[in-house]
Amino acid sequence: MYTLGIETSCDETSCAVLKDYKVLSNVTLSSLREHAKYGGIVPEIATRAHLKNIDKVFLEALKKAKVSLKNINLIAATYKPGLMGSLVVGVNFAKALALALNKPFLGINHLHAHIFAPFLNQREKIEFPLLGFVVSGGHTEIYQISDFDKIKLLGQTDDDACGEVFDKVAKAYGLGYPGGPAIDKLFEEKYKDAFKFKCGRKGFNLSFSGIKTALVYKKLELLKKSRLTRLTKIELVSSFQYSVVETLIQAILAAQKQYKIKNVACGGGVVANSYLRRRLKASESKNLRFLIPQIEYTADNAAIVAGLGFYLYNKKGLKSEIALEAEAS
Ligand code: KG4
Ligand code: ZN
Repeated sequence: MYTLGIETSCDETSCAVLKDYKVLSNVTLSSLREHAKYGGIVPEIATRAHLKNIDKVFLEALKKAKVSLKNINLIAATYKPGLMGSLVVGVNFAKALALALNKPFLGINHLHAHIFAPFLNQREKIEFPLLGFVVSGGHTEIYQISDFDKIKLLGQTDDDACGEVFDKVAKAYGLGYPGGPAIDKLFEEKYKDAFKFKCGRKGFNLSFSGIKTALVYKKLELLKKSRLTRLTKIELVSSFQYSVVETLIQAILAAQKQYKIKNVACGGGVVANSYLRRRLKASESKNLRFLIPQIEYTADNAAIVAGLGFYLYNKKGLKSEIALEAEAS
């Protein structure tokens, strides 16, 4: 069965074609460069970029997959959460296709799609229960997953999302946008304790706004004393990344301890972080295993949307309904 996935929740216009769980193509065009000078995503710019690019990305995905449109069996698109203008472009494109081709349409929650990433290409076996761990630019959430349509939120950030804080700290230190990859590149483990920073955590709930403010004030203080050298910047962001990663790990360990669920499906842009990936692997034990996606499937992309769409379609045994939304409860 061939599934077409469409993802336009933020700045990436992405279309993918899957044969069952095998990714045949996953084409993503980001408008990131157009936002860089503003230090964050500008919704209006993102919407216009989706409008301009979605047809080209769609055709490229079909071409790369070597699949003709008439062979597509299912169309799945992100319908939440995300920037409203951006979502409207992807969902309407997908619904129009579904209507024209008389094929089923599924609306997919893209946070749930993030934690489907480890299962693409059948790299991991789908077995429940799972814990879910989404760490992205807009969300930081821990789930109990009885099935992909039975997902319970256990904990989340009380304020800023994890990736958002990487971006804001990087902006404050003039490291460019997006900040996550920039800080990841500068990180040196030997400086992880150079400064003492702390994130908030109560059980499975997290808080990152305090550490963000601490980093901004530290910069002002060091600037005043003319002590903000390149080395100090590296020490600061290394200590920051260390504290964030360790806090994330503590939260997920607390969830594992309480719920005694062995497998943790991870996803979201921050899961590309090299130190986080190392620490997740190092934290495994006989009672705990992290299902970590390949880097190309961590950030927003349509393959994860198509994969979850295919799973839900099969589970729910849907036939040919058009404009049907599969929402996990
Ligand atoms: O999942 P995603 O593509 O979009 C949302 O759904 O939000 O995540 C984007 C976020 C950005 O905040 C970006 O800075 C962060 O993922 N990110 C990283 C890394 N690569 C991307 N954060 C830390 N380390 C990275 N290597
Ligand atoms: Zn995302």
